Amino acid sequence: MNLLVVKSSVFAGGGQSSMLAEKFVQNWRDQYPDAEVAERDLSAHPVPHLDASRIGALFSAPDGRTVEQQAVLDYADELLAEVTSADAIVLAVPMYNFGVPSQLKAWLDHLARAGVSFKYTETGPVGLLQDKPVYILAARGGVYHAAGQDYQAPFLRQFFGLLGITSLEFVYAEGLNMGEDAKQQALAEAEQQIASLIVA
Ligand SMILES: Cc1cc2nc3c(=O)[nH]c(=O)nc-3n(C[C@H](O)[C@H](O)[C@H](O)COP(=O)(O)O)c2cc1C
Repeated sequence: MNLLVVKSSVFAGGGQSSMLAEKFVQNWRDQYPDAEVAERDLSAHPVPHLDASRIGALFSAPDGRTVEQQAVLDYADELLAEVTSADAIVLAVPMYNFGVPSQLKAWLDHLARAGVSFKYTETGPVGLLQDKPVYILAARGGVYHAAGQDYQAPFLRQFFGLLGITSLEFVYAEGLNMGEDAKQQALAEAEQQIASLIVA
């Protein structure tokens, strides 16, 4: 049960989502002692944002491809290979300005590739990746999920659904900026949920 851990907090290891991811990894190693755990820290090693030249490289035909375009393609292939070779993925997802961190969005943008990770059909796009569990550890200063105003979760469901990955599990740590008591309670509940998810 090899695990890919993707972190995107700008606070590196000090981010609440990063710390929840560490708890997740501890639980995972307890459950699957032989598991390989790969980590991609998107703040320490940012994925470049898409621009016209990167998009051009991703769509370039093999024969006329430049060295620079091939390098972009190799890099995107490497990101995708980490996803396809994992048995499960844990995404540490802070909420920044109501959305996912731009670092995480840039990573997602490199995974969505027509003809590679999904294809267009007459009935709409179809994912080409094998389904696998994706655990989303959502850290927020305020309360959205519990208030029925969570726009991150539908986006992530739609995105991974495009690739064919529908087994998403959300763990929410909300209200982290609403006082120390609320924060400690939210983190304790999230950690409990993580433990029960992995045992199950
Ligand atoms: C730039 C920035 C923007 C934020 N925007 C939001 C927001 O829109 N809604 C919210 O509930 N919390 C917001 N927060 C609070 C974070 O969601 C919270 O601190 C959470 O712990 C971030 O995860 P991290 O600690 O793993 O980075 C924001 C924090 C920062 C630094």
